[in-house]
Formats: sequence, structure tokens, C-alpha cells
Amino acid sequence: MTAPLLETRALSRNFGALAAARDIDFTLEAGARHALIGPNGAGKTTFVNLLTGVITPTSGTILMKGRDITAVAQAERVKLGIARTFQINRLFRRLSVLENVYIAVAERVGAAPSMFSPAGTRRDVVEESMRLLETVRLTGDASRRISELPYGRQRLVELAIALGLGPEVLLLDEPAAGVPSAESHIILDAIDGLPRDIGVLIIDHDMDLVFRFAERITVMVSGAVFATGSPREIGADASVRAVYLGQRAHG
Ligand SMILES: Nc1ncnc2c1ncn2[C@@H]1O[C@H](COP(=O)(O)OP(=O)(O)O)[C@@H](O)[C@H]1O
Ligand SMILES: [Mg+2]
Repeated sequence: MTAPLLETRALSRNFGALAAARDIDFTLEAGARHALIGPNGAGKTTFVNLLTGVITPTSGTILMKGRDITAVAQAERVKLGIARTFQINRLFRRLSVLENVYIAVAERVGAAPSMFSPAGTRRDVVEESMRLLETVRLTGDASRRISELPYGRQRLVELAIALGLGPEVLLLDEPAAGVPSAESHIILDAIDGLPRDIGVLIIDHDMDLVFRFAERITVMVSGAVFATGSPREIGADASVRAVYLGQRAHG
């Protein structure tokens, strides 16, 4: 048996008296389509921050393919193949879509311009950048400036950049947050088109998206895992309905 792509054991994080993550046992398999759902304040973002190394756990363990990465720094985890998109925007607004993706890819392959090797465009980096734009269905916007791009398409650029890191794990924390509903289908299409070999963990409040996309769902409540199962199991779970799905049905 091979070890899972990502695994947490009794992972906990306190903020003062608040247990934002408590005793989380979680498994993300290679190539997974896994959703993390739960009410606001349940600890979902905290959990992603623990996985990426943005914050350190109070106790517990994080394993990647069986290796203990609990103490591995954030940048090192990216190199190990853990990528995320943020709920906030951090793009170069005056540069084009392609330039933004180019910079990220160039940095990964060590082709970033520097004092010693200025300017110069590497064809292989451009080609990879264009492929990434194709994956998120953004080819037609390659030469547009970020500042001219509708917000939803800016989120797609972030997604392309995350993919440009060559991840094995992709953590998507509310990828459609703030995107107008008329535009949100472009995010859903891009998520549907993600390479199958990447294990994806998505946090979202849109239950249509979650139940369409996910093959496995984990429900978090008050910092703890409340339930994990197939979409069918989670959808039919009366206690999950009571704490989350039911209340959402009412708005
Ligand atoms: N850096 C922090 N300092 C103090 N409290 C925090 C911090 N980050 C999150 N929290 C608290 O932890 C709880 C879980 O937050 P969060 O992980 O953002 O929930 P979710 O993403 O499920 O909405 C909330 O009560 C939140 O206020
Ligand atoms: Mg959150």
C-alpha cells in the first residue's frame, strides 16, 4: 500500500482559547477530487493554512507521501508540490495575463530575469505559459492587462499560476469568492478541466459545485471533522443536513 498524497494526524491549532482546528485526521489521495465544507468560522481556511505552512500547528502531524512535513517551511512545501490559490488577489496589474504566468513559470524553472541575465524571453517558458492558459481556458485573454480583466478571469490567472508551480496537490480556498454569478461558470469550467493527476481540495459554499465536482466530501464544524464520505453519503446524512446543508437550503 502506498502512503496517501497528504495526510494529517490529530492536527490541531489554537488561537488563544479558540480551537480553530482540533484533532483533524484527514487524507487526500493522489488525483483526489475532495471538497471541504462547513459553516463560516468552521476552520476550513485554518486547515488549508496548516497544510501549506502559513501557520504552524499547536500539535499533530502532516505527512506528504508518508514523509513528515510538519516542520517544513512554506516555500519548501511549494517545491514539494503543494500549491494553493488565495482568497485575495496578488497579481501584477499593469502586466499582461501571459506576462504574469510567464514570471511564475520562469521563477520555477530558474529562468527569471536577474541582474546577470536580464530580459530575454524563453520560448519554452512562453509555451508552457500558453499551455497553462489553455488549461484554464484563458488563451483569448493572453495579451490583456490584468487591470482590464474582469475579476473572475483574474481568478483564472491565479489558478494558472498555481498550476505553473507543477503541483501534485492543489488547494482551492473559495475560488469563486467575489466573482459575479454571471461569470462564475468560467471558474467552474476551469476547475472541471484541471489535470486529473493533481489531487484537488476545494473549499466552497456552492453546493451545486461541490456535489458535482467532489468524489469525497469532508464536513468541518467548530474546528473538527464532523463527517467524511462520498457525496451520496454526505447528502443523505441527516446530522450533516442539520448542521450545514439544511440551514443553507433556507438561504
Ligand atoms: N490568525 C487568527 N487569529 C485568531 N483567530 C483566528 C485566526 N485565523 C482564524 N481565526 C479564527 O479561527 C476560526 C476559524 O476561522 P477560519 O479557518 O477562517 O474558518 P472558515 O475558513 O471555515 O470560515 C474563526 O473563529 C476565526 O475567527
Ligand atoms: Mg475561509
